[in-house]
Amino acid sequence: MLGNFTYCNPTKLYFGEEALGGLDAELAKVGANVVLIYGGGSIKKSGLYDEVLGKLQRAGKNVAEISGVMPNPTLDKLYEGIEIARAHKADFLLAVGGGSVCDYAKAVAVSVHCDEDPWEKYFARFEEPDCEILPVGCVLTLAGTGSEMNAGSVITNTRTHQKVGHVFLDEMVMPRFAILNPRYTMTLPHYQMVAGIYDIFNHICEQYFSGTDDNTSDYIAEALMRSLIVSSRAANKNPQDYEARSNIMWTATWALNTLIAKGKSTDWMVHMLGQAVGAYTNATHGMTLAAVSLPYYRHIMPYGVAKFRRFAVNVWNVDAEGKTDEAVALEGLKAMEGWMRELGLAMNITELGATAEMIEKLADATFILKGGYKVLDRDEIVSIFKAAL
Ligand code: NZQ
Ligand code: ZN
Repeated sequence: MLGNFTYCNPTKLYFGEEALGGLDAELAKVGANVVLIYGGGSIKKSGLYDEVLGKLQRAGKNVAEISGVMPNPTLDKLYEGIEIARAHKADFLLAVGGGSVCDYAKAVAVSVHCDEDPWEKYFARFEEPDCEILPVGCVLTLAGTGSEMNAGSVITNTRTHQKVGHVFLDEMVMPRFAILNPRYTMTLPHYQMVAGIYDIFNHICEQYFSGTDDNTSDYIAEALMRSLIVSSRAANKNPQDYEARSNIMWTATWALNTLIAKGKSTDWMVHMLGQAVGAYTNATHGMTLAAVSLPYYRHIMPYGVAKFRRFAVNVWNVDAEGKTDEAVALEGLKAMEGWMRELGLAMNITELGATAEMIEKLADATFILKGGYKVLDRDEIVSIFKAAL
């Protein structure tokens, strides 16, 4: 395990078909003024909205609402929510929805009592909050981002075409609790289900494909990937398979709640490339990752052959007998590609609305991180986007 680190994750998880029962005890711990935050209406259709509102009313809360939080939440929507929360003198923010709703609630939480512009402070200068942070709770309806148990928040500035994630260091930004009922995810359209699955897989890859040291985090990562591959295939065949959906939901949380990044270096370049695509196309997050992954991994594989070989053998069961390390590594990526096609993921950025004319701008919008096997230069980013068209 590299370096010195602290591990603290204060999010309490309630998991399973009865998980919403935990909301009563959690509501008893928070103040009277609650802002209920949700997306474009899926929770009204499923009946979850009525259930949650009933609980809030029975707990005697004064409830205001922020509705219509869109996938890839925007800065303008954030400004609107901050005003609603301020006017309501919010004590507590309850996010009911997917990663977008949960991320958004965290951005509101660090901004309500902050005098500065949240974009400048948190998403341009990456500062930590120095104001009171409102507590957030989450009822999750989409397994993917891990937002339910982390301090990440991703906001899109549509004026500047920037999609920026800030992972806050202060664990008080993490949700106080998260309600994880796998049944809630069963109303997801197939497209969103598989995009979420790929998001999970890629979160694990981003933390796995870095470093040459031997550490426990990589072994945990391999186990999570193996479970996800099995369960994703089962859920793809039968989306109502509770066993599979519950495994996927649990894997999503552990893939990005800081655990498997401990004691090692991490990459995150697929997310940087994908976020640039998202900023210009507003495409579904997991699909942007899927569309750029193979061109990126094939490009960096020669610089990290040993790890890609290990991935092929330990995650995809590639038989390495008598083959070169490179050949084994390539077989692993081939197996991953087969699985991605089986799920029906986006395999290029053209189908997400990106064009050859956009490539220079996409390259400009890509943050270059230094933790992967090869620190990319701008020409390499351009060539990866071209290969992803
Ligand atoms: O808005 P509603 O009507 O609820 O519909 C949503 C939305 O259209 C729908 N949906 C969610 N649960 C549903 C459902 N439809 C039917 N049944 C359900 N049970 O799904 C659509 C997508 O929802 P969204 O919340 O946008 O998806 P996701 O959970 O993938 O979140 C994506 C956002 O999270 C950010 C992404 O960049 C993106 O902005 N990320 C956050 C991270 C974090 N906090 O650590 C890390 C990730 O890498 C990611 O960047
Ligand atoms: Zn992601």
